[in-house]
Amino acid sequence: MLILDLSDNQKSSMKTGGILLAGGKGTRLYPNTKNVNKHLLPIYDKPMIYYSLSILLLAKIKDITIICNPEDEPDYKNLLGDGEEFGIKITYSKQDSPEGIPHAINTALAKSNYERFMVVLGDNFLYGREFFNSLENTFYKSQDISIYYQKVRNPELYGVIKWKDNKIEDLIEKPKMFISNDAVIGLYIFDKEFSDHFQKLKKSKRGEFEIIDIIKEYKLTNTVTNYVGRGTAWFDMGSSEDFFNSSQFVKTIQDRQGLLVCSPHEISYRNEYIDIKNLKNYMKSINGSEYSLNLSRSIG
Ligand code: DAU
Repeated sequence: MLILDLSDNQKSSMKTGGILLAGGKGTRLYPNTKNVNKHLLPIYDKPMIYYSLSILLLAKIKDITIICNPEDEPDYKNLLGDGEEFGIKITYSKQDSPEGIPHAINTALAKSNYERFMVVLGDNFLYGREFFNSLENTFYKSQDISIYYQKVRNPELYGVIKWKDNKIEDLIEKPKMFISNDAVIGLYIFDKEFSDHFQKLKKSKRGEFEIIDIIKEYKLTNTVTNYVGRGTAWFDMGSSEDFFNSSQFVKTIQDRQGLLVCSPHEISYRNEYIDIKNLKNYMKSINGSEYSLNLSRSIG
């Protein structure tokens, strides 16, 4: 068993961690997701969940709770185990029915009790070095509740920011009328007040607890709204077209650079969560795979 080497910030008395949402039924992608959960399907050369896990690892988070459907837990455990392979701690928390993103987060908190935590939606993809430096700082060096947004061509598919005098005035989930092009990314930083706020939430018309409603419970004036510039690539991988586009993006960068995009094994190695011996043992265990070959190229 690897010993966790927590950073000074993580050694502080506040319990910090990451929550990765990998539940939901993925009905938009049927029949692909009838037998296999969406987050286990491949985005080019690796399972989708590797990309969201990479976001938490790049933010230097080592205590991670994965939310999943009860029937999918064995598959996630089979793929990721207890995190030893990455030198981190992974706990699993089962969401009995997909009642919405805040419901999933609250289920994870009942098990993990984080006082400050980063949430990543398991179908989100983020790529761009500069962004991750500031993400780590925001998480460990501030007390802010944070959301992130980026300009998109099709805002009606996302939670969208309504502005007034350059200040956030409202958040609207999948607006039918044009509000703005600023879509909220599936990446959030919250604190221990989350569960109290959750108790006050009501389900929306579509029968789910909505993430934008809990952000409003925190009060928009108390929330830091971070712009993610065009130098950072963001995809929501929730439709067949998104699968194709994000796979194509990963392939293009990997073919050009010969380096892996979002390999949690490489990131863990570079973060010094695992050493070269651990990494080589892992590569040996999947010897003959493209991923193993590309991993050995990436670490040079
Ligand atoms: O990708 C960003 C968007 O994600 C935001 O702009 C929206 O405000 C936010 O509501 C969300 O919209 P989606 O329609 O993409 O959410 P979706 O239902 O696809 O769920 C997002 C992830 O959360 C997905 O990986 C599955 C997981 N999930 C979802 C629900 C409803 C759970 O684990 N449990 C759940 O109950």
